[in-house]
Amino acid sequence: MPKKVILDVDPGIDDAMALCIALFDPDLEVVAVTAVGGNCPPDQATRNVQAVIEQLDPPRWPRVGAASPPDHDLPVDGRNLHGLDGLGGTNLEVAELRSRHPSEKVIADAVRAAPDAVTIVALGPLTNIARVFLRDPELASLVGEIVISGGTVSGPGNITPAAEFNIFCDPESAREVFLSPSTKTLVPLDVTNQIILSYDLFNRLPDESTKVGKLLREILPPAFRAYRQEFGLEGIHVHDSVALIAAVHPELFVTEEMAGDVETMGELTCGATVFDRRRVPAWRHNMEVAVGMDKEKVVQQIIRGLGGTPY
Ligand code: RIB
Ligand code: CA
Repeated sequence: MPKKVILDVDPGIDDAMALCIALFDPDLEVVAVTAVGGNCPPDQATRNVQAVIEQLDPPRWPRVGAASPPDHDLPVDGRNLHGLDGLGGTNLEVAELRSRHPSEKVIADAVRAAPDAVTIVALGPLTNIARVFLRDPELASLVGEIVISGGTVSGPGNITPAAEFNIFCDPESAREVFLSPSTKTLVPLDVTNQIILSYDLFNRLPDESTKVGKLLREILPPAFRAYRQEFGLEGIHVHDSVALIAAVHPELFVTEEMAGDVETMGELTCGATVFDRRRVPAWRHNMEVAVGMDKEKVVQQIIRGLGGTPY
C-alpha cells in the first residue's frame, strides 16, 4: 500500500529535487503538494509548484495548495542560493494557474480524509502547518507524522549563526508545530549538511530526454554556481531530498527522542531550535531528531529516486 504523503514546499531548487523523487516513487501516494513562502515569495512558490508539476507530468497529479503570506515579512535571503524566482532564474512557464485552494485547507482536507494515515513532509517554513493546527487543533493528533527539514541541534545555523532558514522564516509557526501534540521527526542541518553532491551528479542524472533529466539540467547548474560563489563549495547541499529519504526510508537514519523548542524573541538567536539535553531534562520529549544516517545509502536512494545511475 503506497504511503500517503503531503509535501509542503518553498521551491527552492532542493525542494524541486525532492518533488522529482516523490512524484515518481511507486511506494508513495503524493496526495498534495502545498506551497509556502520561504526561498521565494508565496505567490512565486505557488507558481513554482505548478510549474514543476507541469514539467514533470507525474503518473498521478497531486492536489496543489496555494501559499498565502506569512504573518510577518519573509527575511531577504541574501545568499540567493535559489535565484530570484526560486528555481535558479529558469522562470519556468506555467500553462495556467489552476484554482487556488489555500495550502492550509488542502492539508486539512487531506488529513481529515485519511486520519492517522498521512505523512506531512515539511520542506519549507512551517507557516501552513501551524495554521492548520491553529484553525483545527484536533488535526495535530490526526496527522500520521510530520517529517521536518530544518533546525539545528549543536551545529551552526545557515541563515544566521544561530538559526536554520526554514525555522528562521517563521519561528512562531515553528514553535506552534514543535509544541503541538503531533508525531514529529526533525531532520536538522547537523545531518543534512553531511551530504554534498559534486559535479559528478551530472553524470548520474537520468537522460535529458526524460522529464526529470530535463528539469534537473535546467535548475541544477545555477545551484552549483551559487554554492561556488557563496561558499566556495564545488558541490551542493540537498537538504530537502535528505529529509524526504528520512520519511520514506527511516531505517537509514539514527534518531533520538528529544525535547525541542524554538526561540522567537532573541535579537541574535531568533529562529534557533533549542533542545533540553540536560542529564535530567525538565522539558517533555516532543519529537524524534535525526542524529545520524547511512550517508552512502541515502545518496544512493536520492540518485535512484531521481531515476539516475547510482554511484
Ligand atoms: O535550510 C535548508 C532549508 O531551507 C531547505 O528546505 C531549503 O530549501 C530552504 O528552504
Ligand atoms: Ca525548502
